[in-house]
Amino acid sequence: MTGHTTAVPVVDFDRLPADWGHGPCILRGLDGVDAVDTYGILRRIGAAVRDGTCRRPDDVKVFTVPQVAAELGEYLPGPGESEFGPYARRVSQSLDVGWSVVANSAQSQSTDLYRFARDVFIRLRGTERGLPAGISDCFIVAGSYASGPTRIHKDTADVFLYVAEGVKTMLLWPFETLAGQAPDDCDPGHEYVALGIGADAVDTPPLRLTGGPGDVLYWPASYWHCGESDGQPSLSLHLATHNFRDMGPVWAGAFTRAGLGAQAPRWSTTERELAADALTFGRTAASAATSAVHQWSVTRHSTANFEILPDFPRCTPPDWQQAAGVRAAQRTPVSWAPDAADPNTIIVAVNGRSFRIAARQPSVSLLSALDNLAEGAVLSLDAWRGTDGLPADVVAILDVAYVAGAVDAG
Ligand SMILES: [Fe+2]
Repeated sequence: MTGHTTAVPVVDFDRLPADWGHGPCILRGLDGVDAVDTYGILRRIGAAVRDGTCRRPDDVKVFTVPQVAAELGEYLPGPGESEFGPYARRVSQSLDVGWSVVANSAQSQSTDLYRFARDVFIRLRGTERGLPAGISDCFIVAGSYASGPTRIHKDTADVFLYVAEGVKTMLLWPFETLAGQAPDDCDPGHEYVALGIGADAVDTPPLRLTGGPGDVLYWPASYWHCGESDGQPSLSLHLATHNFRDMGPVWAGAFTRAGLGAQAPRWSTTERELAADALTFGRTAASAATSAVHQWSVTRHSTANFEILPDFPRCTPPDWQQAAGVRAAQRTPVSWAPDAADPNTIIVAVNGRSFRIAARQPSVSLLSALDNLAEGAVLSLDAWRGTDGLPADVVAILDVAYVAGAVDAG
């Protein structure tokens, strides 16, 4: 069923925290997404696959309609292919069918993309729902097709789709609309579900979300969807953040470390919801388990849930005693929170590395200042310098932030 048009809301990114998850929209004001070199990152992935140095080779796949055998490296951009158009035309001629290349974990090839996507998700944290408990990922879809290679399905991620080249249309249906065709135990939030049918097999007209170069399309995890294009080459960058995570293993690990065996419930939305469960165990064990999960949570926040990070260059921290200041390599370089189970301790996390320090000045004021830094901003260290120079805790925080790629000497 095609050709039906329903008015699609246009939402400014600054207003999305209030509307996040409410429904599909065209998104305006996702500043900085145009600066991400989507094709450049795909070229880097192509080079890594051809060289055999791709960290996650299974993350890159070629799909064709109808299915033909495809040799992965051949269908990724080669060394001389500096522009998307000629690359896509070469692949189209070679395959002579509708095709697409999907490359997951694209942020592992680009610190710029990682920092941009991390920032988007951390800015969305200021919502009632908070940061989703599941993981985040960036992926790139390049191709040339009329109907997308995947039929109607639902994922567990909210998706921001930036159209870098060509035209993309997402056909979307609210969960309830097609729930009758899904397995009985299927619900809107959990699990990937494929219906195994195309849009032509559905009577209900879809919401059609169409974008050209520079547009951003957004849809929440609960929507059934499939993709369409105009048969011409297209390229898109997707930021996906999964809402749910099975917290069972996280809590089981925390309880084990606290000396308890525990069967935690599956599929809780956030670690916060599950914190109440800790009260059923003894106070000491509960507080140790809560503390362990809390550290996991702050660590996750420091990456905005990314499991796969780019390789930050290995480096030795500068002598902070001699440095005038510290420069943020990314917005909100450091995440931190007082430990819920021990108010005398602070958990600090920087791009996935985490540690605990004593909760006292001047570390607290340094963390507050770092937490609020914009990308590129420089913070003078004079305020933290005493007669003996910078205190050891302050230097420890700066060292970890530097090694994790979040700050430079300024
Ligand atoms: Fe999908």
